[in-house]
Amino acid sequence: MDGVMSRDPKLGSAGSSRLEGKQLACQSSQLPLKSQQRCIVIFALVCCFAILVALIFSAVDIMGEDEDGLSEKNCQNKCRIALVENIPAGLNYSENAPFHLSLYQGWMNLLTMAQKSVDIVSSHWDLNHSHPSACQGQRLFEKLLQLTSQNIEIKLVSDVTADSKVLEALKLKGAEVTYMNMSAYNKGRLQSSFWIVDKQHVYIGSAGLDWRSLGQVARCGEKTIRLRILTLDMKMKELGVIFYNCSCLVLDLQRIFALYSSLKFKSRVPQTWSKRLYGVYDNEKKLQLQLNETKSQAFVSNSPKLFCPKNRSFDIDAIYSVIDDAKQYVYIAVMDYLPISSTSTKRTYWPDLDGKIREALVLRSVKVRLLISFWKETDPLTFNFISSLKAICTEIANCSLKVKFFDLERENACATKEEMNLTFPKLNRNKYMVTDGAAYIGNFDWVGNDFTQNAGTGLVINQADARNNMSIIKQLKDVFERDWYSPYARSLQPTKQPNCSSPSDLSPPSHKTATYNTCGKDPASV
Ligand SMILES: *[C@@H]1O[C@H](CO)[C@@H](O)[C@H](O)[C@H]1NC(C)=O
Ligand SMILES: *[C@@H]1O[C@H](CO)[C@@H](O)[C@H](O)[C@H]1NC(C)=O
Ligand SMILES: *[C@@H]1O[C@H](CO)[C@@H](O)[C@H](O)[C@H]1NC(C)=O
Ligand SMILES: *[C@@H]1O[C@H](CO)[C@@H](O)[C@H](O)[C@H]1NC(C)=O
Ligand SMILES: *[C@@H]1O[C@H](CO)[C@@H](O)[C@H](O)[C@H]1NC(C)=O
Ligand SMILES: *[C@@H]1O[C@H](CO)[C@@H](O)[C@H](O)[C@H]1NC(C)=O
Ligand SMILES: *[C@@H]1O[C@H](CO)[C@@H](O)[C@H](O)[C@H]1NC(C)=O
Ligand SMILES: *[C@@H]1O[C@H](CO)[C@@H](O)[C@H](O)[C@H]1NC(C)=O
Ligand SMILES: *[C@@H]1O[C@H](CO)[C@@H](O)[C@H](O)[C@H]1NC(C)=O
Ligand SMILES: *[C@@H]1O[C@H](CO)[C@@H](O)[C@H](O)[C@H]1NC(C)=O
Repeated sequence: MDGVMSRDPKLGSAGSSRLEGKQLACQSSQLPLKSQQRCIVIFALVCCFAILVALIFSAVDIMGEDEDGLSEKNCQNKCRIALVENIPAGLNYSENAPFHLSLYQGWMNLLTMAQKSVDIVSSHWDLNHSHPSACQGQRLFEKLLQLTSQNIEIKLVSDVTADSKVLEALKLKGAEVTYMNMSAYNKGRLQSSFWIVDKQHVYIGSAGLDWRSLGQVARCGEKTIRLRILTLDMKMKELGVIFYNCSCLVLDLQRIFALYSSLKFKSRVPQTWSKRLYGVYDNEKKLQLQLNETKSQAFVSNSPKLFCPKNRSFDIDAIYSVIDDAKQYVYIAVMDYLPISSTSTKRTYWPDLDGKIREALVLRSVKVRLLISFWKETDPLTFNFISSLKAICTEIANCSLKVKFFDLERENACATKEEMNLTFPKLNRNKYMVTDGAAYIGNFDWVGNDFTQNAGTGLVINQADARNNMSIIKQLKDVFERDWYSPYARSLQPTKQPNCSSPSDLSPPSHKTATYNTCGKDPASV
């Protein structure tokens, strides 16, 4: 009962002031005993009425209107799952390296499947770029525009700082756009990237709607052109996952989407969240499901803590649970690793994930591998924290930490000017972790600010039999190992100026043949 009253302060205060009025009326009048009894009866009735109203409101709140009758009992938990990746052109993997559905194809398939609704949360909305290698982004944008005219409900969530013509154009065509002012809620940014299609299919991963995150293979036309490199343009290596026919997962993820939508036009976060936004599954109560016939468990987590209503796991706790469950190894792939949280005025040590890794290494003898991107924005302190992390294993048997830097810039540094004209700077933006029994795929790098300030969503999948070929965890491990053993991953701390004439340095892969095509009219690839 107390929960009901405190959650709805408006109702509570209106009710009590009415009651006070009655009481005052009763006391001030010099009425005989009988009418005093009547007064008490009326008072009791008013009380009952108030309680009834409160109960009805809370019941409506629990039921929720926007879940299409979807419930834990009738949702679909026999799902298909596929990894999606964007591998920028020019990345040279060995021939037998694992290869997955392209992000572009995965997204396009989702939009083609859509019959009722498309809900997208994205950190970026930069699809319609005039750059010749942006054609897949443009295709996606055209497809979204086309869907708005097909009576398909499109809901988009963006940070208020995204000043996007793409969003404005979609809004004009009837898409519902929610702008979140993350800087007002938590001094942060919206970094979440996930999709829900037809309340059935889900995408979640590192990539937002950005032409730089698309376009691994030029498929857009015939004409080959030479590029002029814009220094800010990079092609991104991305990783995500798509679930098909998985309304049980939607049931839960939809509530994070609803939480974002509930902040429309709000400049502050409400003190208490509606019950409708509580988590359905969490760390303790995981969703039981089948992923391509493999028995699995899953739940979604959220950040920042402010955005975690009851029964919604905080991202950090989700990551803790994955590391704690690991018995043999933990493989982590992130763009940035920096246990620091900084505001405009000061920087503080942020020990959460750094400490968890130390615990796993020293106290539980779990093997840890960290694959971090090395690029022009890499904070120099990263190397100090990595050295410190490595030092903890000194003279401890079975303590094993290996760190490699995924360096796609080196080849650019060593490329001749002519080669530079043909290739793009590239960056590995993967954000995942895989262990012997679980996978975590998220929107964040392992940097303090991301988890403490920004909005992001994570996904945990547990599988007991992770050695099975058809298991997503095995596939993710293979992806990690592909990158780990690739020539781009280097154990040594990379130097800012590579020695391009040294044979021990990475010889630039032969991307002399790499070409980008302009966007021709080629409906076959859609
Ligand atoms: C998309 O980009 C093209 C070419 O840059 C431009 O002509 C068109 O107006 C843009 N569309 C929108 C909706 O901004
Ligand atoms: C977002 O919130 C900040 C801080 O409250 C405010 O200064 C800013 O104007 C807001 N931005 C928009 C677009 O409303
Ligand atoms: C989803 O389920 C429907 C109906 O059961 C089926 O036709 C469709 O092929 C499934 N989609 C995928 C991607 O498995
Ligand atoms: C929330 O989680 C707690 C503990 O796991 C559980 O007892 C409770 O039933 C959950 N509440 C809802 C609404 O699922
Ligand atoms: C280290 O690992 C080996 C086998 O992997 C095992 O036999 C040994 O007991 C372990 N030592 C410690 C201190 O855990
Ligand atoms: C690079 O491309 C630009 C414009 O396409 C061209 O002017 C320049 O000569 C090229 N540079 C080299 C080294 O090929
Ligand atoms: C795994 O795949 C390989 C080849 O792709 C196959 O030879 C092997 O039998 C498969 N193992 C299982 C358990 O399916
Ligand atoms: C699951 O099945 C789909 C086809 O239905 C396939 O594309 C995907 O690769 C499979 N996923 C795994 C993890 O084997
Ligand atoms: C680069 O490597 C070459 C060959 O190993 C060596 O001769 C040269 O001195 C090195 N240059 C620098 C600046 O280290
Ligand atoms: C990739 O590298 C190998 C050797 O490192 C080379 O033989 C092969 O031609 C390269 N492939 C491409 C597409 O650059």
